[in-house]
Amino acid sequence: VLWVSNRDGKIDGFDWSVNPDLEEALDLFVKSKGWSVWRDGVDAKDGVETVVIVKGGRDGRNGFFFPGFIDTHIHASQYPNAGIFGSSTLLDWLKKYTFPMEKSFGAEEEGERAPPQAYTVYNKVISRTLSHGTTTASYFATIHVPATNLLAALCHQRGQRAFVGRVCMDNLVFCPDEYHDAFSEESVSATKEVIEYIHKLDPEGKLVAPIVTPRFAPTCSHAALSGLGRLASSYSPALHIQTHISENKNEVLLVKELFEKSEGYAHVYDETGLLTPRTILAHAVHLTPEERALVKKRDAKISHCPASNSALGSGLCPVRTLMDDGITIGLGTDVSGGYSPSILEASRQACLVSRLVASQASVTTGRETLSVEEALYLATRGGAQVVDMADQIGGFEKGMYFDAQLIELGPAVESISHESSHDVVLGGTEDTGNVDVFGWENWEEKIAKWVWNGDDRNVRAVWVSGRLVHKRGV
Ligand code: GUN
Ligand code: FE
Repeated sequence: VLWVSNRDGKIDGFDWSVNPDLEEALDLFVKSKGWSVWRDGVDAKDGVETVVIVKGGRDGRNGFFFPGFIDTHIHASQYPNAGIFGSSTLLDWLKKYTFPMEKSFGAEEEGERAPPQAYTVYNKVISRTLSHGTTTASYFATIHVPATNLLAALCHQRGQRAFVGRVCMDNLVFCPDEYHDAFSEESVSATKEVIEYIHKLDPEGKLVAPIVTPRFAPTCSHAALSGLGRLASSYSPALHIQTHISENKNEVLLVKELFEKSEGYAHVYDETGLLTPRTILAHAVHLTPEERALVKKRDAKISHCPASNSALGSGLCPVRTLMDDGITIGLGTDVSGGYSPSILEASRQACLVSRLVASQASVTTGRETLSVEEALYLATRGGAQVVDMADQIGGFEKGMYFDAQLIELGPAVESISHESSHDVVLGGTEDTGNVDVFGWENWEEKIAKWVWNGDDRNVRAVWVSGRLVHKRGV
């Protein structure tokens, strides 16, 4: 039983004792990783300040509440390209697919409103990620101020927790014609415009916050990088920052060429004031031990994007090594380098990639392998730490925002009558997605089935700050 305050959407209290079945699930997760899963029943509590907002999973549907997923790295503007990348790798993919798509978010004329397409695409991205249980997303938009502001406004209106960043890129060596900042000052001034817009939209930053977004070192001048570093630290508290790092070997070589004087890729960001405790570094596939030590020292965070790293052939991110170094890690879909907007898919890919890392180790111990629980930890608690909100989201402790998804795996197969199982075949009454529960599984096994075969058909409803933001029909 769970109570959520109607004033601030935060969890006000709970009582685990009501449903003994829950304890098995709870035990498993609380013990192993300090996070929780439970199912069924949310009832009324007396009093004015708290209301019931959740009526638990339906009877016998193998349902449970789970903390909303946190996508620590996603390009909203690239969503129309999801799945379209052919056999390209990062640098040619950017030129062939990505820059042309992003460019199309520009207004016809300077200072004009965002094009209708921005409205359509951004609404679709929000709908799609919510339907997959993403309650918080850290978005890259494009270089265009009107469209970036529109993305922030739509997240605010639709109720998705979000960081929204205007992409900065002013280095003509790598940027395409007609899609770049005119000069480094524009990177800073246009970012400022977006920050001011978002601060007006959501003065307390309860739902939507700005994030300073230099695209990555190869597209940015030293002046732009340091200007953006100064900009982020000029606010109190300092603004969040997001960028890419060491995703692809050719990219790493390019950074070596472009920033000859720097010791490494991470050092370029450090020298320009961009390596902070509120910085999200996407990918980090090829960091050197010295760079990892620097990232740890600055307490910068890493967004692991396994689906993208495999799709673009970027490499196998050594997540266990990063963890052993004490670096904070969350998961990112990296749409559309990543083909899927689902953090459940990212969790599953994180598990698979870790097994490949393990298979490549000189001594086979399996230590590199991530468990399902660890992947789900990265998808929730880890992500919360990455966006510096570990005390507010990512779990169900008292005082946290009620950012949650209600998952239903569906009725056990043995409990479905012959007639209704016929319906399933015909796509009739009960769409349990790709998961079949037979009835004998314990909670650990049910959760494993969810991670390996679940999808948005298992997400029945989603809440952010206690507000219902997505609901699936029967
Ligand atoms: N590096 C620079 N820009 C991008 C981008 O849009 N996606 C990915 N995956 N990597 C990048
Ligand atoms: Fe990316």
